[in-house]
Amino acid sequence: MSSGQLRTLPVEYLWDGLVLKDDIFNYTGAVLLLPKGETITRAKLEKLMGFYGDNKNIMVYEDTYLEIMSDEHVPLEIRQKVTENQVGYTRLHKDIGTLFSSPDYEYWLNGEKMEPLIQQVAGKLEDFDPITILSCINFPRPMDEELQRHSLNVAFLNGMQAEWLNLPKEEVNTLVLAGLLHDIGKTMIPEEILNAPRRLTEDEMKIIRMHPVYSDELLQGKFDDNVRLAARHHHEKLDGMGYPDGIAEDDIGMYARITAISDIYDAMVSARSYKGARLPLDVFDMLYEEEFGRLDRSLVMSFLKNMREKYTNKQVVMSNGRRGRILFIPLNDADHPIIRQDDEIRQTDDEWYCREIISIF
Ligand SMILES: [Fe+2]
Repeated sequence: MSSGQLRTLPVEYLWDGLVLKDDIFNYTGAVLLLPKGETITRAKLEKLMGFYGDNKNIMVYEDTYLEIMSDEHVPLEIRQKVTENQVGYTRLHKDIGTLFSSPDYEYWLNGEKMEPLIQQVAGKLEDFDPITILSCINFPRPMDEELQRHSLNVAFLNGMQAEWLNLPKEEVNTLVLAGLLHDIGKTMIPEEILNAPRRLTEDEMKIIRMHPVYSDELLQGKFDDNVRLAARHHHEKLDGMGYPDGIAEDDIGMYARITAISDIYDAMVSARSYKGARLPLDVFDMLYEEEFGRLDRSLVMSFLKNMREKYTNKQVVMSNGRRGRILFIPLNDADHPIIRQDDEIRQTDDEWYCREIISIF
């Protein structure tokens, strides 16, 4: 039965041979183009649409929308773009990129210019399911957008962590700001070093490792001092093996500890693995094991507990192309969740694993 709202879809997302489970309409929703049960050919549809103007969109019911958008006929990149646009993520990272590329720091590195960005990030955290925001975060990005996307991602992740810790609104906002600006010192580093598509030399590594110091210098006296300290200390480790100061334990403040987790999560999830895009679930174990003794344990546990909760019950596409649902994510074996597929319940393994988490909303 047809139900729910009509949603807009570009006609190029449909494919030849798709059998319609529901009616599809023209871009205004007023004219029935093809009835349920018909088999689509794009040519047939485009011809029909020609009668109703140049708009290349159609309207379909919610269920059909979800079905089409989660089908592998629609490339992951396209789905990603749609989600990023709908969340407003694209706009936000472009705005950040524009600000960061301006050499006039006095003009934009101030409360007046940063406040709308903080409000927008905080607003998205209220409006969207964290999984939808995480699906924007968990995606490969072009090198020239790395800094703006990473800054936005760390802002979102800082905001999520702050909310999960029940911090007051004001602190949530300060942590979002710390996320946006923690790597701002990277704008002082020559691009050919920052975006070098090769292994860096020892000297170049030294230059890169100066970025928290530059962030500190740029942020002096401009915002809440916690923002500056989070930026300076986000690469410090509790065991004293971090940089730039090599401080340890209590010398690393809470804002820096939270920002460090967001920073590492984003770096881990954006790195490619042999299977292609890395799923967030694969990263949970790395965060749990590899950073033992280096990141704040209780903050990591809060992060993982909440992440596991958010991903539980989400729909996934399995390696055999069929859909399932995450029933349970083991704490110390998160990349082998328990999945329900039709009537079967079993744990994933190397042959049967989650290929994708469906996050279309
Ligand atoms: Fe950094």
